Amino acid sequence: MKTTYLFILLFTGLATGNVAAETSTINELLNLYKQQGAATPNAQAGQRLWHKTFTGTVPFTERSCTSCHGDDLKRVGKHVKTNKIIKPMAPSVNPGRLSKTSKVEKWFKRNCKWTLDRECTATEKANILVYLKQL
Ligand code: HEC
Repeated sequence: MKTTYLFILLFTGLATGNVAAETSTINELLNLYKQQGAATPNAQAGQRLWHKTFTGTVPFTERSCTSCHGDDLKRVGKHVKTNKIIKPMAPSVNPGRLSKTSKVEKWFKRNCKWTLDRECTATEKANILVYLKQL
């Protein structure tokens, strides 16, 4: 099972030339969050936070990461405000995901502010990152 998974990862990586970049970006970010005091990353906590509902202001009272990215991260999402299609978040189907440090940081900032009404902590970002990267 594990070998198959590794093989698929490697294969997608070779096909897109992306795996090295992606892994190093994720490691870079995880190191950064660690330096900022993040606890050991926990994918389950990341998954819980991803699906947690927060109370925002009208007209989008209920907010969660799924509001725009959807419940199934291997499928496209739809922006709750603009109705624009958002490409799948899962790196297994969208290898460009989590491959650029500045992009991940930019959207963490924006989307946490909108969803949680504050920025995510280093621990929360590390948790979400390890949750997303395995998808
Ligand atoms: C209001 C809509 C909206 C919500 C809610 C939202 N996002 Fe996003 N997110 C976007 C858009 C738009 C993009 C940029 C377009 C794209 O990358 O497809 C994006 C991109 C991202 C990226 C960049 C990934 C990459 O490397 O390409 C991350 C990480 C991310 N979002 C995390 C989150 C998290 C965590 C939450 C919940 C706290 C969240 N988003 C909630 C709209 C949203």
